[in-house]
Amino acid sequence: MIPTGSLIQLVSPKGKRYTMILEEEKELHTHDGLIPLNQVCHMDFGQEVTTHLGRKYLVLKPTLYDLLKNVQRKTQIIYPKDIGYILLKLGIAPGGEVLEAGSGSGSLTMALAWYIGDQGRVHSFERRSEFVELCSRNLERVGLKDRVRFHDRDIEQGFGLTDIPAGFIDVRTPWDYLDQLVAALQNGAPAGFLLPTMNQVEWLLRAMESASCTDMEVLEILVRPYKPVADRLRPQDRMVAHTGYLVFCRIMK
Ligand SMILES: C[S@@+](CC[C@H](N)C(=O)[O-])C[C@H]1O[C@@H](n2cnc3c(N)ncnc32)[C@H](O)[C@@H]1O
Repeated sequence: MIPTGSLIQLVSPKGKRYTMILEEEKELHTHDGLIPLNQVCHMDFGQEVTTHLGRKYLVLKPTLYDLLKNVQRKTQIIYPKDIGYILLKLGIAPGGEVLEAGSGSGSLTMALAWYIGDQGRVHSFERRSEFVELCSRNLERVGLKDRVRFHDRDIEQGFGLTDIPAGFIDVRTPWDYLDQLVAALQNGAPAGFLLPTMNQVEWLLRAMESASCTDMEVLEILVRPYKPVADRLRPQDRMVAHTGYLVFCRIMK
């Protein structure tokens, strides 16, 4: 049986996905009819629940990928394809600590919070309070908010933290905040940046040369999806061709 409080995903016959926390007294209203969630409490993942109109919805345990696809966004977000590499480069693991700016819609925040676990801590900095609220709501919806400390402040004033083992900056002019970042991170800590244009990467690299940064890496990640049809296996007609350039370094004080 799926315990109440679990994250669940219900998938319609047409593939529409609904992600939520399982609460016995809740109901899901869909175009295919109503699903009282107390029915789902008596099931296991991988089974089907029937709406009051007789349509069958698959009950799945959502992965982090599913949650990221569902983030309500009002800013540009970091995509799953980039997030995977960021997590590896920053060494994100259960019980760790990391800082990020800006929070935006909370796509990266969610992934950091997921992997850092309930003994870990994400410090998320954002200067616009509407995005602090949006990020916080997106995290709350999936039960990860308690792992995040939200800092409603401009990182120009510094992070007000020291000895943090990793950091990621996703703001338009990260080169303006390198001194603040260096002050907040441990010696040797990995740091990462996402920038949509090459011009910004140039600015950042120049600033890094005179800041305490070493072991620089610049890359972009392309994912080319294929149509999963065995008899006509070929790429999809469209792909996300560009999200941003990733820059990584180590902080040497
Ligand atoms: C592209 S969004 C971040 C998206 C986020 N990483 C995500 O995955 O959803 C950039 C955010 O940085 C914030 N920002 C820009 N400059 C900032 C600064 N100096 N201090 C704090 N936040 C800043 C913006 O308000 C915006 O919300």
